[in-house]
Amino acid sequence: MPLLEISGLDVYYGAIHALRSIDLAVEERQIVTLIGGNGAGKSTTLRTVSGLLRPTRGSIKLDGKSIVGLPPHEIVRRGVAHAPEGRGIFANLTVDENLEIGAYSRRDDRAAIDRDRERSLELFPRLRERLRQNAGTLSGGEQQMLAIARALVARPRLLLLDEPSLGLAPQVVKTIFHIIREINQAGTTILLVEQNAHMALHVAHRGYVLEVGRIVKSDDARNLASSDDVRKAYLGGV
Ligand SMILES: Nc1ncnc2c1ncn2[C@@H]1O[C@H](COP(=O)(O)OP(=O)(O)OP(=O)(O)O)[C@@H](O)[C@H]1O
Ligand SMILES: [Mg+2]
Repeated sequence: MPLLEISGLDVYYGAIHALRSIDLAVEERQIVTLIGGNGAGKSTTLRTVSGLLRPTRGSIKLDGKSIVGLPPHEIVRRGVAHAPEGRGIFANLTVDENLEIGAYSRRDDRAAIDRDRERSLELFPRLRERLRQNAGTLSGGEQQMLAIARALVARPRLLLLDEPSLGLAPQVVKTIFHIIREINQAGTTILLVEQNAHMALHVAHRGYVLEVGRIVKSDDARNLASSDDVRKAYLGGV
């Protein structure tokens, strides 16, 4: 049974039909990437999984159990953490306080939370040097690191990452993708939304291609990366 299984999902924003009968599965311990151009519906898919949007039709199952209609905090409690597009950090709180918020839904003891906080800071040493700094004054790349670190402090089974590489310098992008792989190797399942199809398909096990609200292709990441359509549309035709 996949950890996450989406089937026949339709989502509207008023009259805009943003997702059209989406089917998608994420197996435990895999990295699955969802690629597609601007406005394809990638962020909408993640927002629906994390309970911020309600689908009109279709099912979303975590471990075989429906999570449609549950409030976002309950979905977090079941093990899904979302590092949203635009980062969603609290600009007026410090780095440390933002990390603390990541742990709010956890019921385990302080020592376990502190261990995960420590692990996040090991992945992102720059954040450790800036614990007392207001998050709004971090650089773009540092804010992205904080969004991921905060999601990790929730100790998710499923991590939803929305464009973690957006707007970052090539060297930072490399670091972020390296860390995504490390997080996955430590046991976390990841659904990764990216416009950087090259890096995403390189790090992922499987991939889905979304075009104007529909899944038009899905395959092993390696096969997708070598398919002519994907190369033409998303990999600069090289
Ligand atoms: N709050 C909203 N109200 C109305 N329409 C919306 C809203 N949010 C998104 N949309 C529309 O839904 C469609 C899918 O948007 P979404 O943000 O999921 O795309 P995306 O694939 O994440 O794109 P990008 O790569 O640009 O982030 C777009 O046409 C967008 O204009
Ligand atoms: Mg988006």
